Amino acid sequence: MRLAHHLTIRNGHLHINGQDCVALAEKFGTPLYVTSEDRVIEQFESYQKALGARYPKVQVLFAAKANGNLALMRALAAKGAGADVFSSGELHLALSAGMAPEKLLFNGSSKTPADLRLAVEKDVKVSLDSLDELHQLDAAAHAAGKTAQVSFRVNPALEVPTHPKIATGLATSKFGIPHREIPAAYREALACRHIRPVGIHCHIGSQILDVEPFARAAEVMVRIAKELTEMGVKLEFIDLGGGLGIPYHHDTDPAPTAEDYAAKVIPVFKAGVEACGITPELWVEPGRSLVADSTVLLTRVNSTKSAHKRFANVDAGFNLLIRPAMYDSYHEVIVANKADEPLATEYTVTGPICETGDIFAPDRKLPALAAGDIIAVLDAGAYGYAMSSQYNGRPRCPEVLLKGTQAGLMRRGETIDDLKAAIERPPWQA
Ligand code: LLP
Repeated sequence: MRLAHHLTIRNGHLHINGQDCVALAEKFGTPLYVTSEDRVIEQFESYQKALGARYPKVQVLFAAKANGNLALMRALAAKGAGADVFSSGELHLALSAGMAPEKLLFNGSSKTPADLRLAVEKDVKVSLDSLDELHQLDAAAHAAGKTAQVSFRVNPALEVPTHPKIATGLATSKFGIPHREIPAAYREALACRHIRPVGIHCHIGSQILDVEPFARAAEVMVRIAKELTEMGVKLEFIDLGGGLGIPYHHDTDPAPTAEDYAAKVIPVFKAGVEACGITPELWVEPGRSLVADSTVLLTRVNSTKSAHKRFANVDAGFNLLIRPAMYDSYHEVIVANKADEPLATEYTVTGPICETGDIFAPDRKLPALAAGDIIAVLDAGAYGYAMSSQYNGRPRCPEVLLKGTQAGLMRRGETIDDLKAAIERPPWQA
């Protein structure tokens, strides 16, 4: 199986960042998320380099929803990352991580009055999803004696090759304002006393393995930029969103890089903004492509059995990684302690959750398994822990961060007490 260079097989064991996954599982216990900080930074810098080589003003915003661990966000902040935040919680995390407010964009299709007040208080730019929200933000800024800087989220009405649940710029999507109505929205924003429109924003979807749709989105965006510039809007940034996919099928999926993305998108972007006579910052919001392949989820085999087929029952389930159950997503699996043994037996790798759909990997050829073996689920760094839950009374597992030869907890494992931590006694039970 093709592996990125931070994953290696030595002495029959899978290693990540040069560290033995079996030893990490012994030391920290299973289930366990293990993330290579070095890999995340490498991916982040590949975006900066690819875009920066072709356009002078670039800001990479990490899509915090993909992996909201503060330690990871701190590492990204130290390299100059901003963030796309989608809630007040993510905004607080980004600020705590040391990200500068001017490098944040508060996105969201359904913001509360408190969200809008927080954005105003922290001087964070807001990507507006409706005219209703525009007027609410205008009022919030007025009340605070400030001017809010905004963009509108453009719905470019683009079909993209991905799972329908994560295509976000279709004409029928819930996100944004239809592209034809965008000029009218900015006209309305220009008339608001406490609003300053400074950017435009779009995001066409996630796990897109072809760079062509991003170039089409850029075309729509620069066309709109021209109209807005002529209208008198001073665009300081154009945000093209995230969405670049990763090769979950290691041997067969295309593996587009930041370089491929930049080579396709920047010429369109550059020609477009030159035609407007402006040099706005180019913002992008990658999530998955920065963090997905940095992380393995290590899980121990509790038992095997042969029923209508052979099952390997492991100690992690969709409580920790819901993507296979939710989107039928494929994740490669490697038996970390038998990584160079022949793939001789077919197993369906299943979690401990009381649901038939709790399957990580159906019908995979693996080495012959026994209780105690450690299975690594690859590419678990995006929308893994971030979408985890305590379903079935399962405390979440710890997360470990690796940097060079160092390994440290970046989140402790939850305990049974954590299952009870937020529970209150209703008055009649006191
Ligand atoms: N910007 C906005 C406004 C977004 O909504 C998203 C993702 C991103 C950026 C980052 O997209 P990325 O580069 O990660 O593709 N839970 C799903 C993915 C949901 C994506 C939601 N929006 C999954 O596990 O595949």
